[in-house]
Amino acid sequence: MSWVIFIKTKPIIKPINTSCRTYQNQDLKAILAIENLAYDFPWSQEKITNSTDNTNALANVVLVDDQVVGYLLALTCVDFVDILNICIHPKHQHQGLGRQLFNHFKHAINNTATKSIFLEVKRSNDVAIAFYQSLGFESIDTRKKYYSNGEGAKILRFIL
Ligand SMILES: CC(C)(COP(=O)(O)OP(=O)(O)OC[C@H]1O[C@@H](n2cnc3c(N)ncnc32)[C@H](O)[C@@H]1OP(=O)(O)O)[C@@H](O)C(=O)NCCC(=O)NCCS
Repeated sequence: MSWVIFIKTKPIIKPINTSCRTYQNQDLKAILAIENLAYDFPWSQEKITNSTDNTNALANVVLVDDQVVGYLLALTCVDFVDILNICIHPKHQHQGLGRQLFNHFKHAINNTATKSIFLEVKRSNDVAIAFYQSLGFESIDTRKKYYSNGEGAKILRFIL
C-alpha cells in the first residue's frame, strides 16, 4: 500500500509594488506603530527620534504600495556601521522585505569608508538570527545580560 501525504502550508505572497528610500520625519508615526506591533519591548518615540535625528544616523524605510512597512536604523562610526533596529510590520514579515531593505542600505553605504556592519541580537530571537545568517552575517561574540530583561546578546558582523 502506498501513502500520499498532503502538507498544508501557508503560501507566501510576495508584494509587488515595493520600494526603499531614506527616512523622512513624516514616517515617524508609521514606524512607531510597527515598533509597537512587532516587539514585546518596543522603543519609545524618544528613543526612535534620538537615533533618526543623530548627525551620524542612517535611516531607511521599505514601502509597499507607498505605505511604510519597515525600517532600518543605524549609526555610522568612522569605518563601521552599527545597526540599531531593523523591523518589518508583522503582516509583511517573511516576504523578502527585510532582505530588500538591507540590500538598499548596503548599497547606500557602499561608497563610504564603511568596512563592516555590526549589530546585537537577542539570543532567543531565532527568526532574526536566521535572517542575519541568510544575509551573510557571522557571529563574533556574545554579551551576558545585555538587555534590560537580563537576556544575553549575540554580536554579529558583516564584512563589506
Ligand atoms: C527579522 C526581520 C527583520 C526579518 O525580516 P523579513 O522581511 O521577515 O525577512 P525576509 O523575508 O527578507 O527573509 C530573508 C531570509 O531570512 C530568513 N527568515 C526570515 N523570516 C524567517 C522565519 N520566520 N523563519 C526562518 N527564517 C526566516 C530566511 O532565510 C529568509 O530567506 P527565505 O525567504 O529565502 O527563506 C523580521 O522578522 C522582523 O521585523 N522581526 C521583528 C523585529 C526583530 O526581531 N528585528 C531584529 C532585531 S535584532
